[in-house]
Parts: sequence; structure tokens; C-alpha cells
Amino acid sequence: MKPSRRSEVAPFFVMEMMKAADERALTGVEVLHLEVGQPTTAAPEGVRRAAVAALADDRLGYTPALGIDELRERIARWYDERYGVIVPTDRVAVTVGASGAFVLAAIAAFDVGARIGITAPGYAAYRNILSALDLEVVSVEVDATTRFVPTSARLDAALPLDGLVVASPSNPTGTMLTRDELATVVRWCAEHDVRLVSDEIYHGISYGAEEVTAVELWDEAIVIQSFSKYFSMTGWRLGWSVLPEGLVRPVERLAQNLFISAPTLSQLAAVAAFDCTEELDENVVRYRERRRILLEGLAAAGIDEVAPADGAFYVYARIDHLGDATALCRRWLDELAITATPGVDFDPDGGHRWVRFSYSESTGQITEAVRRLAAWTRDRS
Ligand SMILES: Cc1ncc(COP(=O)(O)O)c(C=O)c1O
Repeated sequence: MKPSRRSEVAPFFVMEMMKAADERALTGVEVLHLEVGQPTTAAPEGVRRAAVAALADDRLGYTPALGIDELRERIARWYDERYGVIVPTDRVAVTVGASGAFVLAAIAAFDVGARIGITAPGYAAYRNILSALDLEVVSVEVDATTRFVPTSARLDAALPLDGLVVASPSNPTGTMLTRDELATVVRWCAEHDVRLVSDEIYHGISYGAEEVTAVELWDEAIVIQSFSKYFSMTGWRLGWSVLPEGLVRPVERLAQNLFISAPTLSQLAAVAAFDCTEELDENVVRYRERRRILLEGLAAAGIDEVAPADGAFYVYARIDHLGDATALCRRWLDELAITATPGVDFDPDGGHRWVRFSYSESTGQITEAVRRLAAWTRDRS
């Protein structure tokens, strides 16, 4: 018997690169990882302490589908503390990562066949989840001429649309929407009756630009967030969404059936995460330094056309003067023991001209990687 047509999604190339890197490492070579997009730090100490206590004291059964009250309330309070926005607790849904939040939002908001715009380049898994759900993915091209953000003209070109997904800071570009740019997207969606999904998973990791949440601008937007990035809790598999009132009950019913609840131990521990900002901000200081080393090092290697790296821990760099992205990443792994992610993961059409470099790994790895890249490009010329 055959697998379903819906399961025929593209592989996530970054995972294939990681697999190839692991094989290379087995031969004793030290591989420098610029492909992975996860913090190398553990969860903050307060979270780990809370987890130990919960493990000792709690039965760790299922929780309500939308999460434990204490965490939903703490998340709502975070919006007030961080952005000065009042969010009613009952609009917060705790989920299995941003990934779980996205699946729930997509099923709750869209019917089969709906046309959903997603920026190209954009996060590959969202593209693949949408097509696995039998939704039609419509690319909204962003590039240097639009500062890598979707403008009204680019959105008009994608019409008709039922939904639109934007991420700020974006993966793979790191580019953030300014307040005006996000407000323009919101206005455009409201005018065209398009449901906006705003992925804010990289909020907290930015380098000077203002972080604006769509919660503040439109209560019909679906906002998606996670403990995986700023909160440094990737493997705890926890995230949340702030939902329009009309989607709370649909998401609750779907969550009851699809996941029952998000991991209980993670939920109990995550309440403490919001009071660990001092430790978490120290991680961001380190990202800032790695970003500087990477940007300067890439420029020294002649890779100097990059998307505005406002936030997250990625630099999306144009490399077509050096070759095709997939072949180049393969070569860098073989010749330099460096892994990076070819842009085709994020943009099936134009991505062969771009590579995403992640600087979430150690400062030592980033420093050594740019040294090897610069020597490699020097030897070629
Ligand atoms: C833009 C974006 N959204 C969502 C996710 C999924 O994150 P998680 O399910 O770990 O919360 C990622 C992971 O890298 C991402 O980069």
C-alpha cells in the first residue's frame, strides 16, 4: 500500500545536512555547526529547579488542553510586562512548541484548499505543514528591494489569499518588521479579509530594533510563540498562541483531540522562565558578539550581500558568485568541515543563490568557521 499524497512533503535539508555532518564527525573530524538553529545553552536555572520540584511533587498527569492556568496567566502577564499590552488569559493556548501552535491554528482557521501566503524565503516546516494539511501554499516573494519584508504590492500580487504567515524576526533572514511595516501588513490583511498568523518565536533575540507583537495591533491576528529560542528550552517542546476570541474554542477542541495537552513537566517548570530574564539576556549578549564575528568574517570571505540580520541567530547570505547553494554546502562540509543550510530549504525557487548561517553555536566555532571560509575563498582567487 502507498503512503498518502499529503505525506509527500519536501525533506528538511537542514536535517539532511546534520545527518551528513554526524557521519563526517564519525571519521574523527571536528565539524563546525552553522546549520543548527537552536540555543546551545540549557534552560535557565530557575526553570530547571522548578522542574526538579515538580518531578518530586506532582503526579504529572494530563493538563487541560489549553494548558495549566498558572502558565496561561503568566504568559498573559508577560505581554503586559514586555509590551504593555493587556491580553485576557483565556485567549492564551499552551501548545507543543510553536510547531503545535501552528498546526492547531492552521486547522482551526482554514478549510482544505484555502490559499495561504508565506514569505519566500520563509520557514520550511510551515510550508510543508500547510501542504500536508491540503492547504495551498502561495509564495510571497521578499528580497533586497523590499528589505526582505512583505510589502502591500507583493501581497497584492499573491491575491486571492485566505491566510498569511509572517515571522519577525524571520527564519532564515533574521529580518524584523518595523512597527510601521507590521501595521501595514495588519491593515492589508484586515482590508482583504485575510487571517494573519504572526510567528514571534524569535522575540527576545534581537539587536536594537523594536519588537512589536501583532497582539497589540489586531485582536483578529493569531500570534505564535515558543519557549524554544529566547527561553532556551528547545527540547521541552512547549510554546503558545494568543488567539482571536472566535478561535479559542475551536483550538481547544482540536487540542483535546490531537495532543490532549502539552507536556506537563514542561508547563509546570516554564512558569519560572519569565523571571529568568537576566540569565536569558546574557545569552543574547553572546549571540550579539557571534553575529558581529560572523558578519565581519563573511565579509572578509567576500560574502557580503546579506539580509538585514536584525534578530534571531541567522545570517542569510547571497553566495551565487561561489556556486549553487546545495553543492556549496556539500563542498564546505567535505573540504572545510563546516555545515550551513542551503537556501532551497526556505525558498524553493530562489534559494539556490543563498545560504543560511546560524550563529547559535559557540563563539569558538563561529570564529574558526569564518577563518576557514576566508582561507578557502582566498585560495580560490
Ligand atoms: C520561524 C520558526 N517557527 C517555528 C519553529 C518551531 O519551533 P518549536 O516547535 O520548537 O517551538 C521554528 C524552529 O526553528 C522556527 O524557526
